[in-house]
Formats: sequence, structure tokens, C-alpha cells
Amino acid sequence: MQNSSPFPQKRMRRMRRDDFSRRMMREHQLSSDDLIYPVFLLEGSNKTEAVSSMPGVIRQTLDKLFYQAEQCVKLGIPAMALFPVIDASLKSLDAKEAFNPDGLVPRAVASLKQRFPELGLITDIALDPYTSHGQDGLIDETGYVLNDETVAVLAKQAIVHAEAGADIVAPSDMMDGRIAAVRAALDSTGKIHTRILAYSAKYASSFYGPFRDAVGSAANLGSGNKHTYQMDPANSNEALWEAGLDIEEGADMIMVKPGMPYLDIVRRIKDEYKVPTFVYQVSGEYAMLKAAAINGWLNEKASVLESLLSFKRAGADGILTYYALNVANWLAEGKS
Ligand code: PBG
Repeated sequence: MQNSSPFPQKRMRRMRRDDFSRRMMREHQLSSDDLIYPVFLLEGSNKTEAVSSMPGVIRQTLDKLFYQAEQCVKLGIPAMALFPVIDASLKSLDAKEAFNPDGLVPRAVASLKQRFPELGLITDIALDPYTSHGQDGLIDETGYVLNDETVAVLAKQAIVHAEAGADIVAPSDMMDGRIAAVRAALDSTGKIHTRILAYSAKYASSFYGPFRDAVGSAANLGSGNKHTYQMDPANSNEALWEAGLDIEEGADMIMVKPGMPYLDIVRRIKDEYKVPTFVYQVSGEYAMLKAAAINGWLNEKASVLESLLSFKRAGADGILTYYALNVANWLAEGKS
């Protein structure tokens, strides 16, 4: 229809004109409550190492990590996610270091929990740091990742982490039936309060490259890939199917991974199931933002905050991001 008036029928810019009215109609807000901080944990003490493909991110020993944990508590970040760098001599075909109660992760969890009881601790349930071949599970003689045998080991790993004090165990392995097995294992050992954050929609993504450098699994994996268990980036209905199964099996929260290339999946899962839904801004996403920032091609703070807001808009309840501490600091500065 023709508009006969010389004026626009509706001026959308009216509400955008001033800061106060922009703030009044703002639909989403980022807060430190939305953040989960992932960290790379080294054996030993008083040591840090740079991750070359993730400038600004380090691997560090537990004593150094206390400082980051303290920052999380101070800035109101609810939880930290631990990713161990396991010494090559402890990697094996049967991944038995994954359920060693005196292993790097259980020791770190116990000690962090003692010092920072109020900080949520999330541990990764997957075998890739512990296998000599870098796959997330046990393999047969053809290299195929065995499902049920792997799930049995994951259940043992979850018990060890929970007994050390992990608040949330996060199976990121994409084996079938692992949520039910982990829940049953936790319940049967009295760990009824240990939450499960299920990586339900974990895609076989090239954006994990820098992470595999960080934990040192890239060399073990070599030219191998994870296509027989992680999801095909071409699919989205399958992600709903996966999430539905994990919820039925007892997941308390769902994770979508990676983040920005999969915002549609976050939205569909949230709309379909209305469960706590999280998203992982993965290493490759961090590396892209950081590289552009270092080159002066992007304004780092503005583009990082915008990327996180896009997760909130897509329906995420929380975001796992290597930028968590920076973001919490930026948000705190904005308030003062
Ligand atoms: C594997 C695992 C991966 C990441 C975390 N845990 C990826 C993989 O190698 O399949 C990636 C995280 C990131 O890229 O930041 N259990």
C-alpha cells in the first residue's frame, strides 16, 4: 500500500535516539552470572606456558590457578571448567589415568574446592587427554571408537571427579548412552547432587584446533578425526534428537558447541526443551577474535561483548568463554 503521508508511518529511530530509551527497550543484558571460565591445568608448581594459537591464554599449574579462581569469585563468575594437560607418559590405550583418584584433575578439584567452596567446578568427562591416540574413547584394532566400553570408563571417571568434589561433570565425548550411565554411576555412589552438563550437540568442528594444541592432543590425533561420534556440521534436527535423549537420560543442562557458527542450534534447543542451555565459544572462535584484535582489525572489547550478546539473544543461559575474566572485568568497569 502506498503511504500518502509525507512522513514515515512509524519512526523506529525515535526509541533509538537517546541512551536512556535505548536502555529502556534493551532485551538482553550480559552479566558475570552468564560466564563460565575454562582453564588449562598443568602438573607441577609455579609454571605457566603460553598457548601459541590462543594469545593471552595460558596453561598453568594449580598454585597459579588459585589466583584465577579468586578472580572468578571476586568478579561473580559462577563456575570454572578444568581441562588437564596430561603428561605423555600417562597416556595409554586403556586411558586408565582418566579414573586415577590421585590424578591431576581430582587433586586440583579437591584443592580448589577446599579454598573456594563457593566457586562451581566443572570437569570434562572424555578420554582424549588420556588416550595415546587422542580420540575421546577406547578404540578397536581398526581405530574405531568403541561405544559401550568407552561409556564404562567415562562412568568411572565421573565418579572419581565427583568424589574429589566436582560440582558438575560435563560429558563431552558424544558416546551413546553416556548420560544414563554417568547418572546411574553417580547415584549408586551417593553423588545425587552432582549435576550433569551434557555436551549434546557437539559438532565435529575445525574450530577446536587451538584447543587440541593447548592440551597437547593434536599430535596424538595426527590426521585422525572424530567424525564417527561428533556431529556433522550439516545437521540440525539431529542436534534436537541428541538433546532430547540426553534430557531423558538425566542431563541437568545442555551444551551446544561450538558457539557462533551454531546459534541456530542454541535457539532450536532452547525453544524445543526450555532447559538450561549453554554454549561454548570455542578455542577457534577465541583465536579469530584475538587475531583480528591484535592486528587492529577489530575493536576487541566491543566485538567480544557483541559475540556474547548474540548467544544470549539465541537463548543461551550461559557461555563458556576464554574471555570470561576479561568480560567480567569489562562489565565491572562499566558499573563503576
Ligand atoms: C574433547 C574436547 C574438545 C574441546 C574441549 N574438549 C574438542 C575436541 O578435541 O574434540 C574443544 C574446546 C575448544 O576448542 O575450545 N573432549
